[in-house]
Amino acid sequence: LWTTDNIAADLIQNIRDTVGGDNVLLGLSGGVDSSVVAALLHEAIGDQLTCVFVDNGLLRLHEGDQVMATFASNMGIRVIRVDAEDRFLDALAGTDDPEAKRKIIGGMFIDVFDDEAAKFENIQWLAQGTIYPDVIESASSKTGKAHVIKSHHNVGGLPEHMKLKLLEPLRELFKDEVRKLGVSLGLPADMVYRHPFPGPGLGVRILGEVKKEYADLLRLADAIFIEELRNYDLYDRTSQAFAVFLPVRSVGVKGDSRGYDYVIALRAVETIDYMTAQWARLPAEFLDHVARRIINEIDGISRVTYDISSKPPATIEWE
Ligand code: XMP
Repeated sequence: LWTTDNIAADLIQNIRDTVGGDNVLLGLSGGVDSSVVAALLHEAIGDQLTCVFVDNGLLRLHEGDQVMATFASNMGIRVIRVDAEDRFLDALAGTDDPEAKRKIIGGMFIDVFDDEAAKFENIQWLAQGTIYPDVIESASSKTGKAHVIKSHHNVGGLPEHMKLKLLEPLRELFKDEVRKLGVSLGLPADMVYRHPFPGPGLGVRILGEVKKEYADLLRLADAIFIEELRNYDLYDRTSQAFAVFLPVRSVGVKGDSRGYDYVIALRAVETIDYMTAQWARLPAEFLDHVARRIINEIDGISRVTYDISSKPPATIEWE
């Protein structure tokens, strides 16, 4: 019988048999899959695990601190946090093409990760949060969207002596099994049941050139939207929701003064498979409340719109 508990016990035994006394490195993104791998490996091999968490400056509000609190402080996992915001933002400066931005972010992830990994002398394994749908997806390879850490197979820049073997303990599991496993390993439910967040992060939710000023405004707007979805008990009834930053200015009046500030679009969808999606019919009073909060509380935002495009033809992300 396949219960979450005996899946966990099986996986843990398997990892111990495979890894023995070796050391394992994991790129921890804060997403569900790599988080569950971290918890699982910690349970299986304790201190033989080292995680590298790259803060690329394109994470959500307080996300880096939350990852460190959950894994390092609460679970006692060794996590190296790399503050790479400047490296990412410098590399992105001046680029507004979406595919070019994705390439820069993906390439920089590998560079930063490799720089960190090269500092460890005695690592034999690289763990990854590959799950069964990723295995199928890369077999048919129809999407061009790289799962950055996941496609990190050859670990380009590492020194010759560090030929890492690949450890993918979730390879046979579906997403809902991964989530249940995460909860059974003690991860917080609201982390495990979080909406998906793309690898390139806010880099694809800031249209055009990525700037720190834009990322900071977007983080604040996104946090208000998500907080209110939770307050109104709508978060779990929505498959994915987020804010998008539009680098256009629009006139607005705040208090007595006329402003000329940026625009935020809110996106929320309902979907089963993320291949097709309906825009979420969120209540008008809810949207009104969120829009007022964003405009009143964030200096620099003058207008909020709600995206009523379904997929297809629109995609979920704006890019
Ligand atoms: P689109 O925008 O293509 O998105 O309708 C479908 C789903 O994929 C997510 N997405 C990504 N996930 N790395 C990821 O891990 C990526 O580069 C990436 N790009 C899009 C998107 O958030 C949505 O859930």
